[in-house]
Amino acid sequence: MATPRFANDLFLRAFTDEALPRPPIWLMRQAGRYLPEYRATRAKAGSFMDLCRSPSFCAEVLLQPLERYDLDAAILFSDILTVPDAMGLGLSFGVGEGPRFAHPLRDEAAVQALAVPDMARLSYVFGAVAECKRALTTGDTQRVPLIGFSGSPFTLACYMIEGGGSGDGFPLTRRMLLGRPDLFRRVLEVNVAAVSAYLAAQVRAGADALMLFDTWGGVLAPRLYREFSLGPMARIVAALRAEFPSVPVIVFSRGAAHSVAEIAASGAQGMGVDWQSDLAAVRAAAGPSLTLQGNFDPLLLTTDAATIDQSLAQALAGFDPKRRYIANLGHGITPDADPALVGHLVARLRAL
Ligand code: CP3
Repeated sequence: MATPRFANDLFLRAFTDEALPRPPIWLMRQAGRYLPEYRATRAKAGSFMDLCRSPSFCAEVLLQPLERYDLDAAILFSDILTVPDAMGLGLSFGVGEGPRFAHPLRDEAAVQALAVPDMARLSYVFGAVAECKRALTTGDTQRVPLIGFSGSPFTLACYMIEGGGSGDGFPLTRRMLLGRPDLFRRVLEVNVAAVSAYLAAQVRAGADALMLFDTWGGVLAPRLYREFSLGPMARIVAALRAEFPSVPVIVFSRGAAHSVAEIAASGAQGMGVDWQSDLAAVRAAAGPSLTLQGNFDPLLLTTDAATIDQSLAQALAGFDPKRRYIANLGHGITPDADPALVGHLVARLRAL
């Protein structure tokens, strides 16, 4: 794909040493259930997975938040669980429930049978990347950069072993990690190879930057996090940097503030900062050359304008938001967020 010209490349410039006029802004889960137009498109598609499997519906919901708000990046509309689904684990989303796998990795035979899926089974995702890119582009000018993503090998393993979400720190997953580290390492090996191939294919289809969602890395003790979560992500980053040196990768591990220096040394150009961390403290631990992204509490979007203003001032105290910083939430927007307060937050951030 020819190198696009961007109408707005602020997001990509946040990965350089340049001082920017203002920080770029996007919001995790910016396309989602808090928007009535998203719910309408999902109803038209039939279900969430039907939506993910339709490149044209993916492009439609990708644009919805950009029409409402002044955002500086768009994220591929898909899900992290597409990869284990392609491995044959049988993904479903029950109505009003989280994800479920029909064939979780519960014994040695299941782990031994696990294999890197043929990327052709994920062609609907690469089709969605290409369609999202087209929807962002007029003539030879792309409106904003397009972020591709994947789950981290560890976070994918959590869902693959547990068979779904967990209110309790993924006990089956941690038990395998502790009791059968040989099996756990095999799951991670397969996931590293699968995620590397998956993200490389997203770049070939048009992604301009990449993000690894490691939602559950923080359930591990620091030493185990570094070995079983950050280590595998660093291998993926190294493979991607070798092939695509100009495509930045952001690592987002929730609850891993104990390992900021190690994340900074992982090779990733960016780090997502969760709402439980302090931006100034993370900057001090990360050093000047890692791009930080975050970290406003998504629940602010269920409060009021004055509370948002006060929280922004507190979160940014002692922190330079114009250098190597991307304004974002500390986790995804919740379905009960108020679309008007999202507009307020974006307007305040644009005035920084
Ligand atoms: O940010 C975006 O706008 C891009 C789209 C995106 C989705 N999921 C869409 C989605 C992204 C980046 C994800 C990542 C994802 N998916 C993560 C990591 C990020 C995080 O939030 O920690 C995880 C853990 C998943 C797995 C997943 N998918 C869960 C647990 C759920 C159900 C939770 C819920 O809110 O119901 C999903 C479903 C999902 N993925 C929805 C969306 C918009 C809601 C589905 C619906 O429309 O009903």
